[in-house]
Parts: sequence; C-alpha cells; structure tokens
Amino acid sequence: MVDMSTTLGARRLANPLMTASGCAANGQELHRFFDVSELGAFVTKSVMSEPRSGRGTPRMAETPSGMLNSIGLQGPGIQAFVEHDLPWLASVGATVLPSIAGGSATEFAHVAAVLRSSDAFGCVAGVEVNISCPNVANRGLVFACDPLSSAKVIALVREQVPRDVPIFAKLSPDVTDITAIAAACVKAGADGLTMINTLLGMSIDTDRLRPHLGGVTGGLSGPGIRPVAVRAVWQVRAAMDEGRMPTVPIIGVGGVRTGTDALELVAAGASAVQVGTASFNDPTAPVRVLRELTGLLEEKGFATFDEVVGIAHGRQ
Ligand code: DOR
Repeated sequence: MVDMSTTLGARRLANPLMTASGCAANGQELHRFFDVSELGAFVTKSVMSEPRSGRGTPRMAETPSGMLNSIGLQGPGIQAFVEHDLPWLASVGATVLPSIAGGSATEFAHVAAVLRSSDAFGCVAGVEVNISCPNVANRGLVFACDPLSSAKVIALVREQVPRDVPIFAKLSPDVTDITAIAAACVKAGADGLTMINTLLGMSIDTDRLRPHLGGVTGGLSGPGIRPVAVRAVWQVRAAMDEGRMPTVPIIGVGGVRTGTDALELVAAGASAVQVGTASFNDPTAPVRVLRELTGLLEEKGFATFDEVVGIAHGRQ
C-alpha cells in the first residue's frame, strides 16, 4: 500500500487529489456521484464579497484543445457561502479549500475575514486566493500579472487568516515570468501556490463570424493547457530548488484527466493535484484519478507519495 498522504503547509491531507475551483460549485452535485470527503480537499468556486451574476451568455465554448469559459465569477457572495455552502461541506465531513476572489485587495481581505468568522471554519484546511481570473475587468491582470499588486492582496489576506491555515496564491499562466509572481506572493505570506488558472483565449463562430463567447475572450482549460501547467510547476519548483525563492508546496492544476496526467504534475513538483474540466465528462474523475495515480505509484514500487514529488528534477 502506497502512503498517499501529502503535506500542504501546516496541514497533512489524506491524499493529494482535489477538485479544481469552479468546476464543481460547492460540492452538492458531485456528492451524488461520490463521497466528496474522500478527496484530499474540496476546492470551491471562487467567492466574492457580493452575489454576482457574472458575464453575459454564451459563457462556455468547446474547442479541440479544451473548454473556453467566460463565467465572470458568478457566485452567491461570501455571506451566503458561509451560511449555506461551507456548513454543508462540513456536515458531510469534507476537507475544504475555499477559493476567494475580489475586485480590490481590500475586497479580498473582507471576504477572508467573513470566511474566518464562520462557525464551519473548522473544515477549512487552507484558503486559495484567486488572483488570476481571466474574466474580470482588466482580465485579472491587475493582480496576477504584477508582483506588487499580487503581493498586496496576499499580504492583506494573510493578516485575516489564522497562521495555522495555509493560504495558496492561484497564479495565471498569462505572464512572462511566473517565478517572479510566485516569489512575490511567497514573500508576502503565501504558504503555497496553485498553478495554473486558465489560459486566456478565444474562438470564433465561423457561421455567424462573431466570437463564440458573449464576453469575447475566455479562459482555456482541459487537455490543451496541461503542458503549460507542467512547465509552470517545473519552473517554479526549479526556482525553489536553486534557492531563488523559499520552498513552499505547489498544487498543480491544468488538463488532468488520468492518473498518468496527474503523475506528470507531481513529478514536476506538485504536492497535490486538482481535477477540473475532466469532471464535466466524468463526474467521478477526481476519485478515479486518485485510484489510477495510487495504482501507478504502486506499480512503480514507491512506498510514499512524497517520494515522487519533484522526482523528474533528478535530485534523489
Ligand atoms: O477560467 C476561469 N473562470 N478562471 C477563474 O478564475 C474564474 C472563472 C470565472 O468565473 O470566470
């Protein structure tokens, strides 16, 4: 039996598999297919201060390389989230990584403060700080593509979240030097990094000769971005190993459909793996990927998941 437990900051999780933010709302629907408490953690849709309806429709388009979305952070707002969604997740015994977002650094801090005050906060194993949504004004560039503003958001959120609850900065692949943003976030207090959010893209309906998406551009997710995610995880892990930034855990996300896909991210340096778009085709994908990854490690003769994290860098 492979020991699949993994460490994320101050927390040890039973296994490294998680949902990706936004692909399974707050868990109720997935729970009809499998027990969400079996996951290392359940990552919720990013929640902001107020309820939001998001961008105009159509908001999803399929492409041969994956899915484009321009949802625009639709959500119930933090108050409804702490009154309904988080207590439900706690009631089924889930380990939760709420994802938070904001239009300003102070909005992020406010959302974190309300979250912390929730009676159900005990189920929270970490907070994912989504500074990289491609579908908001300025396409998220204000935060995720600029070390200074990214650092400001992280520093303010860090002040609101208890020290023993790690915070993870979710980064965009749409940057020239992802290690610079990663280093700035860690210096500002991030205990870990989630890489990557969707890649900014668009597609055009050649019958109507207009963009498919109401919001014109959208975030690309699915198989086409997996190599981008593997590259981002590798580069940041290398920066840590070379002493260019402090070492913190990385959560890898981007186009994972199988245990083999997950293994790529882990070997590149990820201590946990999120499954998103694959769940639309197969709602059991997160637990299936866990099973497949466990089987692969067993086959390869590993005793623990930890041994495999970053193994492709050839340090061992
Ligand atoms: O692709 C994305 N879509 N990434 C996000 O961070 C948020 C989401 C949305 O709601 O637009």
